[in-house]
Amino acid sequence: MNVLVIGGGGREHAIIDALSKSKKVSKIYAAPGNAGIAQLAECMPIKDTDVDNLVTFAYNHNIALTVVGPEVALAAGVVNAFEAHELKIFGPTKEAAQIESSKEFAKHLMQKYAIPTAAYKVFSDYKSAWNYVQAQSLPIVLKYDGLAAGKGVVIPETLKEAESTLKDMLLNDKFGHGKVVIEEFITGPEFSFMCFVCRDKVYPMMLAQDHKRAFDGDKGPNTGGMGAYSPLPFITKADEEFAYKHIMQATANALVAEGCPFKGVLYGGLMKTPNGIKVIEFNARFGDPETEVVLPRLQSDVTDIFQAIINETPIDIKWDKRSAVGIVMASKGYPENYEKGFEIKNLDKVHATVYHMGTRMENGKILTNGGRVLFITVLAESLAEAQKKANEEVAKIECDNLFHRTDIAWQAIK
Ligand code: AMP
Ligand code: GLY
Repeated sequence: MNVLVIGGGGREHAIIDALSKSKKVSKIYAAPGNAGIAQLAECMPIKDTDVDNLVTFAYNHNIALTVVGPEVALAAGVVNAFEAHELKIFGPTKEAAQIESSKEFAKHLMQKYAIPTAAYKVFSDYKSAWNYVQAQSLPIVLKYDGLAAGKGVVIPETLKEAESTLKDMLLNDKFGHGKVVIEEFITGPEFSFMCFVCRDKVYPMMLAQDHKRAFDGDKGPNTGGMGAYSPLPFITKADEEFAYKHIMQATANALVAEGCPFKGVLYGGLMKTPNGIKVIEFNARFGDPETEVVLPRLQSDVTDIFQAIINETPIDIKWDKRSAVGIVMASKGYPENYEKGFEIKNLDKVHATVYHMGTRMENGKILTNGGRVLFITVLAESLAEAQKKANEEVAKIECDNLFHRTDIAWQAIK
């Protein structure tokens, strides 16, 4: 069958890599894709939020399965539109995707169904928010309510910073015109629990951990993620069972009860606090870069999984026991200002899986084309071995404008 993947980053490259191994798939299209994806799929210059053109494309190209990568496409209602045209698509509706697109929706749902998360209050008025913060002790967490591409969370260190952040969020509309969720500050290691969800059926994936800070030792600014690994030795079987039952399954059930059943990947951004496992955030899609270390561990045919979720049939999922470590190569200056268009060499010398996050092809050369540019994944018998090998492989890649972390998985390798 013909399949279409919406998006053009490392996550979509990993999804397409998995689809390309399926006997059921004859042709893959990507919209818009990137230079790495172009080796496995035909890339179409259609924006991930251009719902009408995506529907028309799927119709005209006899697409039997569409998979959605980015949250913006879900929030734009791409799944609703495909379903209205009886086109098969993997991902939640706009209504179910509110679990990610609206923090207020997510927090309210968790409170109503007793799903463990940090205590919170929602404000739309600057004065009330500022009065509330002044009555609390720092640290406190300020979250702009909307899709803010990872930049909508501020943990101010001083009251002055809290005041100016609230002004940016509620008076100056720096992120858009929305509300602010103010949360209790909780601590502990964070981890990502992705599940394939079909209404009240929840199929867990292997756990992974992202690395948000730009530099080694978890220093520097927050980014979209600088590396990931799987599995997580510090999360016990009991932790995982708790999170599965009381968080992932409970949330799937809650969404059914609220009349917006979820079908797709439900991503729990969780924290192991001294008071148990709590939710930091939910996403309505595969995590990036977690997907680039989790899907390489998938042994089942990913097409069977997508179809089972869409068609509401049961599925048994098998996983590789080996460990995966993956490293992001990002443009110097990322996540702030960076330049694009630098040539990347020696990719053919790398003995690892290379996913392209932000690249383009020009005159036969692969050029950097984004903040995060490449993701290199290595599978090995242990995390330590995978980390060592991933660092060796990354070192082979030549480019004048990339940097990366060398300590991915440090919390698990001591
Ligand atoms: P989010 O976009 O909600 O995932 O938040 C981004 C990051 O802010 C998270 O990965 C955490 O490191 C941090 N964070 C968010 N909420 C809290 C909280 N309630 N307590 C402590 N840290 C938090
Ligand atoms: N890795 C975090 C995310 O995908 O949002």
